[in-house]
Amino acid sequence: MRKLTDKFGRQISYLRLAVTDRCNFRCQYCMPAQGAAIVDRKELLTFKEMYRVTRVLSELGVDKVRLTGGEPFVRRDFINFLESLAFNDKLKSINLTTNGALVGKYIDTLEALGITNVNLSIDSLNKEKFNTITHRNAFDDVYNTLQNLQQSNINLKLNVVVIPDVNTNEIIDFIALTKNQDLAVRFIEEMPFNGKGLRETEQVWNSATILNHIQSHYKDIEQLAHKTSATSNNYRVKGYRGSFGIIPAFTRTICHDCNRIRITATGLFKNCLFDDGVFNVRDFIRNGASDNDLKKLFIETVSQKPKNGFVAEAARDNKVSESMSSIGG
Ligand code: 5AD
Ligand code: SF4
Repeated sequence: MRKLTDKFGRQISYLRLAVTDRCNFRCQYCMPAQGAAIVDRKELLTFKEMYRVTRVLSELGVDKVRLTGGEPFVRRDFINFLESLAFNDKLKSINLTTNGALVGKYIDTLEALGITNVNLSIDSLNKEKFNTITHRNAFDDVYNTLQNLQQSNINLKLNVVVIPDVNTNEIIDFIALTKNQDLAVRFIEEMPFNGKGLRETEQVWNSATILNHIQSHYKDIEQLAHKTSATSNNYRVKGYRGSFGIIPAFTRTICHDCNRIRITATGLFKNCLFDDGVFNVRDFIRNGASDNDLKKLFIETVSQKPKNGFVAEAARDNKVSESMSSIGG
């Protein structure tokens, strides 16, 4: 059943659900070193509420869920929640975005639960630099997770936020990883979602700059076919086993076939990463909404999905400044 359609004919089939706003890292582009403001636990959706919202959405045509945070594994009993979510046979795929530090011992469980895709955030292959970016000493744990995921049946994508003057000199090193490994590395444009209340950097490294930089090093790059609703533009160095992608997170050139909605850890429903939230699902549920009430609200809300991230941003009351950890990556 495909009921979630907007005015531009886009069908929503993909929910990105943040299971917590807490994180064990302090990535410099995501939050201030002392951490972003976190909310009281009571304000977080419970796993039961998340399960219900997901089930209702799956009855309206959502068949893919990505669990994000903060860091999803920081929330107690996250693995049990995954297990219950995996019982929903309307969901064709359940994916995760994680910083990997706490994932090590769960890889077999993830495989057993049928988790097919994991996006691992890793912004540097250099231990000291990685630890400086994240303000934590977790490089070894994350790198182990990377290697263990590579050995598993799970499809692995690496997320690399391109940070001017910090890791731009590693773009080529990351692509080198794709030579012999079936791995996708995706470079993400840095966005002003950093919990600091200001736009710190001008966008020096956007998608075009990143691609130019790569092309000045590798002469033989082929563009891969655009998969509908993909968030990245994808390429391969000819002859390499893996691929790389560029995510125009800030220049927003991928909105035309967006199939995504988001629900933040506090239950804020977002039609677009750049809007400031449409309504709070948590309050609606706690005020006694039935599944049918929820369905009506979702259908009506999705129909108002803004045309693209620029329209969404222009309609905001406040400037973009919240941390990605509160929105869900
Ligand atoms: N700009 C771009 N990407 C960001 N992420 C977090 N904050 C930002 C930002 N300000 C990324 C993380 C992770 C994903 C969940 O979102 O690095 O890969
Ligand atoms: Fe880093 Fe992700 Fe944690 Fe933000 S939520 S501090 S990007 S690991």
